[in-house]
Amino acid sequence: MLEGKKILLGVTGGIAAYKMANVASMLTKLHAEVHVVMTENAAHFITPQTFEVLTKNKVYMDTFDEAPDDAAHVPHISLGTGADCILIAPATANVIGKLANGIADDMLTTTVLPARCPILICPSMNVFMLENPIVQDNIAKLKRFGYHIIEPDEGYLACGYDGKGKLPKEELLVEAILLQAAHEHDLEGKSVVVSAGPTEEPLDPIRVITNHSSGKMGYALAKAAACRGAKVTLVSGPTALEVPLGVDHRGIHTAEEMYQEVTSAAETADIVVMAAAVADYTPAEVADQKIKKKEGDLSIPLKRTKDILLSLGENKRKGQIICGFSMETENLLENSQAKLTKKNADMICANSLTQEGAGYRVDTNILTLITKDGMNQLPLMSKREAADRIFDQILFLMDKNA
Ligand code: CTP
Repeated sequence: MLEGKKILLGVTGGIAAYKMANVASMLTKLHAEVHVVMTENAAHFITPQTFEVLTKNKVYMDTFDEAPDDAAHVPHISLGTGADCILIAPATANVIGKLANGIADDMLTTTVLPARCPILICPSMNVFMLENPIVQDNIAKLKRFGYHIIEPDEGYLACGYDGKGKLPKEELLVEAILLQAAHEHDLEGKSVVVSAGPTEEPLDPIRVITNHSSGKMGYALAKAAACRGAKVTLVSGPTALEVPLGVDHRGIHTAEEMYQEVTSAAETADIVVMAAAVADYTPAEVADQKIKKKEGDLSIPLKRTKDILLSLGENKRKGQIICGFSMETENLLENSQAKLTKKNADMICANSLTQEGAGYRVDTNILTLITKDGMNQLPLMSKREAADRIFDQILFLMDKNA
């Protein structure tokens, strides 16, 4: 995933510095070329040799120790300008203060100052140090200048206090790097809305009408769009999934709530993908109290919900791409093609429920992408790969419409 990518880890003197060995190792396994620059204080918590063994690269600590490979090659400049992504973690109040104020007085700060790639900073310190308005001001300043701040976790801190300031899990740090460096940012500047998961229509305070959607396809779409640089809003019914990093998640329950959230987010969106399994009907009335059982059967009157995709298609702005999904158990392609026209969508991803490896709950899918130009039948693939193929097709449509 990170073949050919140069990732620079800046490690400063916080107790969590030892965790960065794991991050370096995980990145190396993803085939990144990993370089580490440490502050002298970081060496109190982890040795440079640990990183050298794991990354097979020299670790830099002192600007004046650097031995240029040749006269034109100065490591603190070439490391900074050559990196595809820099992660500074744990980032102490000290390094945050220096970077926010343009101070470059050691190997790490002189390496970061000339860098032009995405720079991720993970503040990690005592909760009261973190809350100090000067530190907060410095963090806000870094954000203003385009640095990406990874919020620290809350929990028991090494200093004995409970609160915000912990370095997040190593997996999350690696995920944050992947988001910046693993993919071409061909959706940069685009605003994408994805709907996902099931809706829940209440019958009484206890019961709901819902469906089997796990949300996996929609979450894979949100993740793919974020990895490709888009600003992503994910409107989702209840799922057991983790919200992808960098995605604005709006949780909803009913089809009406989904309609409100999606239509409002769609007003400024370039792309809307309706992957949610939205209820077509909702109970005509919601009982205030639990419906008690009686002798004989029970019928529940249902009324139609709004068709969100139809409404998006009717109100489509110029240049906006609207993509829907279609779940069928019979006549898949014919019925899906009809939805493309009826709902004025630009693309329908037809999803057969009868094929093994496709549909709800599984991690794979078999889709046919239907546009006005024809059909593109995709083989069985992971939902994440399918998500990328959908955005490839959407970008093609956007280019064509431009
Ligand atoms: N959809 C929607 N609003 C609804 C129902 C569905 O926006 N109230 C969207 C889905 O998110 C999907 C597309 O419409 O993108 C097709 O959904 P599907 O359930 O396959 O078809 P329906 O439109 O509900 O039509 P039918 O019941 O005839 O299959």
